[in-house]
Amino acid sequence: MSTLAIQGCQWGDEGKGKVTDYYASKADIVVRSQGGNNAGHSIVHKGKRYALRLLPSGVFNPNAINILADNVVINPWDLIGEIDNLHNLGIKDFKILVSSRAPILMPYHLVLDRAREQALSKNKIGTTLRGIGPCYEDVVSRIGLRFGDLLDLDALKVRLEGVLEIKNLELKAFGQEGFSVEELYPKLIEISKYFSPLIIDTTAYLTKAIKEGKKILFEGAQGAMLDNIHGTFPYVTSSSPLATAIPLNTGMPLDCVNNIIGIVKAYTTRVGEGPFPSEIENEELAHKIRETGHEYGTVTKRPRRIGWLDIPQLRYVHSISGVTHVAFMLLDVLSSVDEIKLCVSYSLNGKEIDYMPSTVAQLSKVETKYITLPSWKEDISSCRKYEDLPLNARRYIEKVEELTGLKATIVSVGPDKEETIIREDIF
Ligand code: GDP
Ligand code: IMO
Ligand code: MG
Repeated sequence: MSTLAIQGCQWGDEGKGKVTDYYASKADIVVRSQGGNNAGHSIVHKGKRYALRLLPSGVFNPNAINILADNVVINPWDLIGEIDNLHNLGIKDFKILVSSRAPILMPYHLVLDRAREQALSKNKIGTTLRGIGPCYEDVVSRIGLRFGDLLDLDALKVRLEGVLEIKNLELKAFGQEGFSVEELYPKLIEISKYFSPLIIDTTAYLTKAIKEGKKILFEGAQGAMLDNIHGTFPYVTSSSPLATAIPLNTGMPLDCVNNIIGIVKAYTTRVGEGPFPSEIENEELAHKIRETGHEYGTVTKRPRRIGWLDIPQLRYVHSISGVTHVAFMLLDVLSSVDEIKLCVSYSLNGKEIDYMPSTVAQLSKVETKYITLPSWKEDISSCRKYEDLPLNARRYIEKVEELTGLKATIVSVGPDKEETIIREDIF
């Protein structure tokens, strides 16, 4: 069995799409296991840039089967739009399968996401407004619809009637219009026609694939610090982006993942509200990095907040997820700065701490200590071997390796697939 999981190690947008695309070219099956169209993976394939939200980044390998597994919240209308868009761009030859257990993200989830953010006002989370949180709430409160429900239209109608009784009460509490069965049921019938041939029991499918020794890539969405238990709660998403959640999110046994490659950007970014200990306060410098790295949201186009690489944060993520390897991304962007800072420790109330504070109040009070390293000015995008990198770039990588205990298996020096240094073959 050869399986590899891709896990974002910061607050998302680390470059997971590029790494997934690279490994997907060697995979038999690519599995997405959580999140929804809040994810935005930008991939440069054969010189053209594509933005994926729900579709696994295996779509560029015509031989791979792409699976949307049990805990991916799927807005079916948005997914059809994404498929049509790829077809129009000439990417037609891909296969997808959808879990019968995957939750259906409904139009009322979008209304509730917006209403909730408005009600939170200055305390808003800064969600992507794609209805992700409300859809997961319906899973936990056991009233959500799932893709398997689309396979029996009579039973679906009865379920929808029951679901709407509750949802309309919630919508009313937020001063929003309710939804009727007459409005939503025909829409679901259309969706059922489209998806019925693609809905399967993905647990049975993956169990067989593992027995047959197929190469399986588990694609990640979001980043560890957005985990809804271990991240910067409440400024997080509503699922677990940790590779340790893959067994639960796919209906697989605990040992289904052989290796976990943690995706780490050479600096840090985050979108939305919430604490960000190593955020760069100098707006001129943050702006320079943002422009060089094109740090604008793939989904919402919001400018990303910029910070230095944060060692305590990476150590924490290492300990909660057990990543085995690292892909060090966007290193070329740091060619634009005069010197690089590296956050090496946190203090709270004047005392150094060796844990990640769990409350926003504490995290916002954390004092960060930095070391400064010299940058390099050379364009590194044509480096293909580790030895080709300027000495100061290697020193930076090696310092991060020393402080985190993790080896950079991949060093990425540009958005293109070719702009990559592979130091070890792990899949
Ligand atoms: P994801 O959500 O983790 O897949 O990341 P995003 O796609 O949202 O953001 C990463 C961005 O960085 C995308 O625009 C990528 O094309 C780009 N990218 C990935 N690797 C590199 C790199 O090594 N250098 C540069 N300059 N851009 C990169
Ligand atoms: P990828 O896969 C960056 C953030 C949102 C917000 C919080 C909650 O591209 O790395 P949600 O809509 O999930 O309820 O929003 O989580 N967020 C992301 N930030 N990259 C993502 O995905 C994200 N998905 C959600 O900005 O702060
Ligand atoms: Mg992204």
